[in-house]
Amino acid sequence: MRRRAPAAAGIIAILSLTLASCADLGGLDLDTIGAEDKTTYIKLALNQSESHPSFIALDHLSERFEEATDGRWKIEVFPNEQLGSQQEVLQFVKSGAIEMAIVSGTQLENMNKDFQVLNMPTTFGSIEHQMSVIRDQALMEPLFQSLTDTDNISVIGGFTQGTRNLYTTDKPVKVPADLAGKKIRVQESAMHIRMIELMGGSATPLSYGEVYTAMQSGVLDGAENNEISYVTQNHYEVAGYNSNTNHLVGLDYMVMRHDLLEAMNEADRELFLAEWDQAMTEHTELWNSETDAVIEKAKAGGAEFVEVDKQAFADALAPIKDQFLTTDFQRELYTAVRAADTSETTGGSAS
Ligand code: GCU
Repeated sequence: MRRRAPAAAGIIAILSLTLASCADLGGLDLDTIGAEDKTTYIKLALNQSESHPSFIALDHLSERFEEATDGRWKIEVFPNEQLGSQQEVLQFVKSGAIEMAIVSGTQLENMNKDFQVLNMPTTFGSIEHQMSVIRDQALMEPLFQSLTDTDNISVIGGFTQGTRNLYTTDKPVKVPADLAGKKIRVQESAMHIRMIELMGGSATPLSYGEVYTAMQSGVLDGAENNEISYVTQNHYEVAGYNSNTNHLVGLDYMVMRHDLLEAMNEADRELFLAEWDQAMTEHTELWNSETDAVIEKAKAGGAEFVEVDKQAFADALAPIKDQFLTTDFQRELYTAVRAADTSETTGGSAS
């Protein structure tokens, strides 16, 4: 069964409960973090379920970091939007109410439009291309460090969202015209709203945890996401036509309170960043091994995987680049990222 995100009162209750049980939180005392005689608790918010590769990789990261520091640090991973939607938890990290979160790039573009460059349909040709870009520190630093002063947020890396496809509740979509009049959920992003409009549909921004019910009740005619979300969120139960538009290789980021990262002693910080690096590697491996399995699960549950006219969708999306690459920095970053793409397949729409 699908888990639902708690209402606001539930989120506050969880936060207060944790505050009550860990003296450090809700104003983590940065002078005493990582001390020998106690455990420093770190809250990490995630909107995925426990069977999703992101939860598994983060859970393993938590175990490794706790063990490596003899229990001085404990990362508590809260899945299923327990601490709030991504939009909410990003604000909690900024205010210091929680320490870390995994958020989609679309959330960060609302803080700094330059993140749009990496959220664009044509940016990444494959998961491998994307992950090599994310690990290119020189290339990523201006973006990853851009929120430290304004929002107290450090971006320390990312998890792939894989290739995103469109799915619908009543009829299969094969060409852009099939989307006419269809209400398709998008993430809360001006660029993704435009993306769906260009693809032929009508875009409805909504938080992740609300999509299942909105499709089930007919408020939405479909959504777009990777196969793993399609299955771990049980969307295939209510939107049985999955069209392989391959329109975007999406990206999630690990965001962290910048002052916390700065306040960690150097040895702990290096240890943590090394374990996080390993989590990124494990995540990509899990992603690749899980994708076929979830497709089989969706098919067994009655979902139909539909071939689309990929060129027609790529042509429809072509104008997005000029509309959203508006500064020299954005254009140069885009060009550098595209130049690093050696993928044989281009994720459908990269050019
Ligand atoms: C993916 C991604 C999430 C994002 C979600 C969405 O599952 O990993 O970070 O929130 O898509 O469409 O909202």
